[in-house]
Amino acid sequence: MPYITVLRRYLHPCISHGYSNNDYRNNFDEERYVMALRKPFVAGNWKMNNLVGESLALVEALKPLVAGVAAVDMAVCPAYTSLHAVGKALAGTNIQLGAQNAYVKESGAYTGEISPKMLLDVGCAWTIIGHSERRHILGEADAFLNEKLRFSLACGLKVMFCIGELLEERKDGKMESVLERQVVKGLEGMTAADLDNVVIAYEPVWAIGTGETATPDQAEEVHVFVRNLIDKSFGADAASKMRIQYGGSVKPENASDLISRENVDGFLVGGAALKADSFAAIINACA
Ligand code: PGA
Repeated sequence: MPYITVLRRYLHPCISHGYSNNDYRNNFDEERYVMALRKPFVAGNWKMNNLVGESLALVEALKPLVAGVAAVDMAVCPAYTSLHAVGKALAGTNIQLGAQNAYVKESGAYTGEISPKMLLDVGCAWTIIGHSERRHILGEADAFLNEKLRFSLACGLKVMFCIGELLEERKDGKMESVLERQVVKGLEGMTAADLDNVVIAYEPVWAIGTGETATPDQAEEVHVFVRNLIDKSFGADAASKMRIQYGGSVKPENASDLISRENVDGFLVGGAALKADSFAAIINACA
């Protein structure tokens, strides 16, 4: 990552707390610096793709390409059927395992569902909750997603919580109210400490799988808006620590420009995560 980006991330919490440069110099606090420095996090959402053999081939190709990368947290989120095998293949590497969804019960008569406990059992550290395809194709509403998020955290999973507006909502000037509703209702009943295990993924629905990407300015504007929402509900420390990923047609060609923005803290990648070369190039752009 360019030095100037690191510097801006470092200074951001001081600026947002209204410190002048002199205050900042007089109040230098190493711990605060470490806390405020948001390590980029890049995750690959494989969606409903890859049989077990294909999943293994993909992670085996990926491992050597990112083995030396320590400056970026990274994860892959295969389909349920590949989680166990991929989890074994990733043991001892710097790539974490994530699921794409999780249910709100530990076990029982819930045909077709998978519990956080089962995901932890096969090596998952993360799950995605609230992806737009689940909101819009499977009809999952804010209250249910809040329940899923809280239950996953309570079970010990970390969560990438997705939000994003539809194109019509953006065009109709409703983007901010939609995002505010998704954030406020999605995080209802949670504490600032809970947020240590949450990452927010801003994924404008019009950019997902369409080849159309938000510009770095559009992404930065929304990420600032979301960070301010976190500040309002959970305080400045939680807001400055919160990693906000961008998702929606992220590719090696646009990753460097996007990650150079102060409030873009990584990516949730769909299509480009299905090829080891392109996913590794995105990770390396954040390093
Ligand atoms: P995309 O998908 O990168 O293919 O646009 C992103 C996502 O849905 O997480």
